[in-house]
Amino acid sequence: MGKGFYISKTLGVVGIVVGAGAVATIIALAVVYAEEKSKNEPIDGGPVTTVKPPPATPTPSNDPWYKYRLPDALVPDTYDVTLWPRLHKDEHGMYIFTGNSRVVFTCVKETDLILIHSNKLNLTIFDDHLATLLSVDGSAPPSIKSTWLQEETQFLVVQLNGKLSAGNSYELYTEFQGELADDLGGFYRSEYYEDGAKK
Ligand SMILES: *[C@@H]1O[C@H](CO)[C@@H](O)[C@H](O)[C@H]1NC(C)=O
Repeated sequence: MGKGFYISKTLGVVGIVVGAGAVATIIALAVVYAEEKSKNEPIDGGPVTTVKPPPATPTPSNDPWYKYRLPDALVPDTYDVTLWPRLHKDEHGMYIFTGNSRVVFTCVKETDLILIHSNKLNLTIFDDHLATLLSVDGSAPPSIKSTWLQEETQFLVVQLNGKLSAGNSYELYTEFQGELADDLGGFYRSEYYEDGAKK
C-alpha cells in the first residue's frame, strides 16, 4: 500500500453521493438565481423595478341608487300601507302576504328620480312599471320612464320622463306580494303552542 489517506469503501460511496447532491443543489440554486436575476434585469440599464399592475379597484358608481342614503329632494308625508297575511300555505306550499302602499311625499328640490325602500317583494306591474304616480293636486305628474329593484341598496327606483316640481306633493302607489317567512326578518310569521294548541 502506498502512502496516502484511506477511507472505507462505504464511506467513499456515501461521500460521493453527498458530494454529487451538494453539487446538484448548487447548480439548481444557481439556475434559479440566474432566472430570478434576469427577470429583474432592467431593460435600459435603469434602476431595478418590479412592474406590478395597479390593483383593480372597482369604480364605485355615483348613481344615487347605489348610495344607501336617500337623496334629499323628496320628503315623505304619509304612508298608507295595507298588508294581508295568509296564515295557510298557498298552492305552492308557501306562506305569503299581499298588500299595497300609498306614499304621499312633497318635492323640495326638482328631481326626476324617486327612491323608496323595498326588499324581497314581488311588485305588481302597472303599464310596464312597478309603481304608479299621481299628483296630489290632480294635475298630470311626469310619466314614468323606468322602474327596477336595486337589490344591494334595497330600493325601488322610479325614473321619470320629466321633473317633479318643488312645492308639489305626489303619491306613489305600489302593490306587492311577499313571503311570510319565519326568519324574524321583515314581515314574518311566528307560531307558539299554548295548552298543546298551535297559535
Ligand atoms: C316572487 O317571484 C319569484 C320569481 O317569479 C318567485 O320565485 C317567488 O316565489 C315569488 N314570491 C312570492 C312571495 O310570491
